[in-house]
Amino acid sequence: MRISVIGTGYLGATHAAAMAELGHTVVGVDTDSAKVARLARGDVPFYEPGLTELVARHTRSGRLVFSDDMGAVADADVHFLCVGTPQAGGAQAADLAQVDAAVLRLAKAMRPDSVVVGKSTVPVGTAERLRGEVREATAGRARLLWNPEFLREGFAVADTLRPDRIVVGVQDEADAAVLAELYAPQIDAGVPFLVTDYATAELVKVAANAFLATKISFINAMADICDAAAADVTTLATAIGLDERIGSRFLRAGIGFGGGCLPKDIRAFMARADELGVGTSLAFLREVDRVNLQQREAAVRSAAVLLDDTVAGRRVAVLGVAFKPDSDDVRDSPALAIAAALHLQGAQVAVHDPRATANAARLYPTLDYVDSAEAALAGADLTMVLTEWQDYRNLEPAATAALVARRAVFDGRNVLDADRWRSAGWTYRGVGVR
Ligand code: UDX
Repeated sequence: MRISVIGTGYLGATHAAAMAELGHTVVGVDTDSAKVARLARGDVPFYEPGLTELVARHTRSGRLVFSDDMGAVADADVHFLCVGTPQAGGAQAADLAQVDAAVLRLAKAMRPDSVVVGKSTVPVGTAERLRGEVREATAGRARLLWNPEFLREGFAVADTLRPDRIVVGVQDEADAAVLAELYAPQIDAGVPFLVTDYATAELVKVAANAFLATKISFINAMADICDAAAADVTTLATAIGLDERIGSRFLRAGIGFGGGCLPKDIRAFMARADELGVGTSLAFLREVDRVNLQQREAAVRSAAVLLDDTVAGRRVAVLGVAFKPDSDDVRDSPALAIAAALHLQGAQVAVHDPRATANAARLYPTLDYVDSAEAALAGADLTMVLTEWQDYRNLEPAATAALVARRAVFDGRNVLDADRWRSAGWTYRGVGVR
């Protein structure tokens, strides 16, 4: 099929390349000419394992092209909307400006008999509204489907090529046929294909993210209890996770969740529930958000304890500022928020991250960004592991001790072996662990 993908961020660039991999002919369209020029050269402007190879392969094969001109969608049969829906300034709700602008321009440029498929995460009710706009612009001919995306950063290529499930919201069930054809290789390989109405499809996405966020805040609340009761949250998580009804994934306690999705999606979900008059049903998500933000404050307090209550003037090595490993994304990163908070309290914060320092420096230019973990550790009064990159998990306590001024370590992701670090003379603090 001939496909267009509108918006070439994490979601759009990955979807475009994956569709080319499935054998379709794809044009990725973005208003950012610089980004388009890079992608057209097979150069992905963010870090996502495996994506550069996939984009380069298909820009070479000719199945994948990029353009900053919406006119390029004219030949496509199916158009995927993959633009961002960030948190609105000064509000909890999602900002739909990019979605609205993209639909307006797309509806004018596309063939009236083509199909628009929304993938962006939107408040429930958006698809119904957009359907009206698309049909008005095409004299009632174009169809709109809603097909939420569940990819995780760091695993975006694998999640897109082999998703857990494909969910499609339609107005008329027959409309789903186009996506059944497009995703045939995945459906044939056994990926469940669920067809539903618009509202359910929109809600599946935010409900999934709300559940994942709740799981993380639940285990972080347990970590607090474990701290107070001298218990161990890692063993607790392993033990409760062995109950299949609970499951062991997404039960890692630490400094909490961040990124471009979970935080803003649960807030937008609460805002939409308020509009629908059922805000109290999601009141628990306020607590989920609160527990999550509290983890950052607790980490700053732990740092102060490890520095004997004198933060100002002390040298702190922050290892990891991406919101998770294998990503260069620092949007709403707990690690970066903690680094910045310590800097504001007067600490000299030396930050290392294998991929994310350039993005972090744009948000917080006043931190000291260094090129190696060793440079961050040199002379440190406190070492903080805040993103669990493999390199940091592998740190040797004895070798690390030779670099620092004081052997104090805060393990914000509970990934270091506390016993080994203590045996090497370190004062170790994790989150809810002994
Ligand atoms: C998330 C959803 O997983 C994905 O399905 C959706 O499409 C987009 O949002 P992503 O933002 O890439 O994906 O990251 P994810 O792997 O979910 O991690 C989110 C945050 O939670 C990270 O900051 C991570 O460090 C944190 N986390 C995750 C924990 O603190 N503990 C855990 O057990 C798991």
